[in-house]
Amino acid sequence: MPRVTADVTANVPADVTDPRARLAVLASGGGSNLQAILDHFAALGASAPGAVVLVVSDRAAAGALDRARRAGIATTHLPARENHRLLACLEAAGVTHVALAGYLRLIPSEVVAAFRGRLVNIHPALLPAFGGPGMFGHHVHEAVIRAGVATTGATVHFVDERYDEGAVIAQWAVPVHPTDDAEAVAARVLAVEHRLYPRCVAALCAGALRLEAGRVVTAPSLPFERFVPADAPPSHSA
Ligand code: GRF
Repeated sequence: MPRVTADVTANVPADVTDPRARLAVLASGGGSNLQAILDHFAALGASAPGAVVLVVSDRAAAGALDRARRAGIATTHLPARENHRLLACLEAAGVTHVALAGYLRLIPSEVVAAFRGRLVNIHPALLPAFGGPGMFGHHVHEAVIRAGVATTGATVHFVDERYDEGAVIAQWAVPVHPTDDAEAVAARVLAVEHRLYPRCVAALCAGALRLEAGRVVTAPSLPFERFVPADAPPSHSA
């Protein structure tokens, strides 16, 4: 697999005449959440509040990069040792908003500062449960099984300087059945991630979600219920 470098994005100009959000998605894995965002924005068509303009991964072989290439989106492979270049990559691509989708690197503090309130993540559990350093991927779902809880889910939150501690935007609970293993739980959670995250990202890009004094504020003109699926249990914050 050829290494794709940040140079790929160096000549991507920001269209200053387009007021829509220019979204970067950062992913280390297969990129199914990236795909869900792409599909949602495509379904919104001309009313989409933004476009994915850049996909960044610390892993050259990440499926997310393949998905981006197939969609004609600029890609950057940013190995861990080059993490300090992340802000420059985002700025070079004219990025206005950032969505983490299974990105396993801590976001540099200067990126958090530059994109505070425009930088979100999805975590495959109901934070603050089963979050923090080391709680990613299968580790989360294995911990859920070990703990014997009856409910888990997905959490969308703003990103701050610490893993999984930013203000919660939305949560969607799913049951954990006694016969479940970690794979079964992961699949159930991922299915709701794909429905919840694109809607939250779209709301963020539309300016309907803001972070004020560390708290999530939703625009009265676009009530939360407009972008949380109608069949989601009422477990989101407001
Ligand atoms: C998702 O479960 C997400 O919640 C977590 O990492 C996983 C990424 O999956 N942060 P994918 O690469 O989007 O398929």
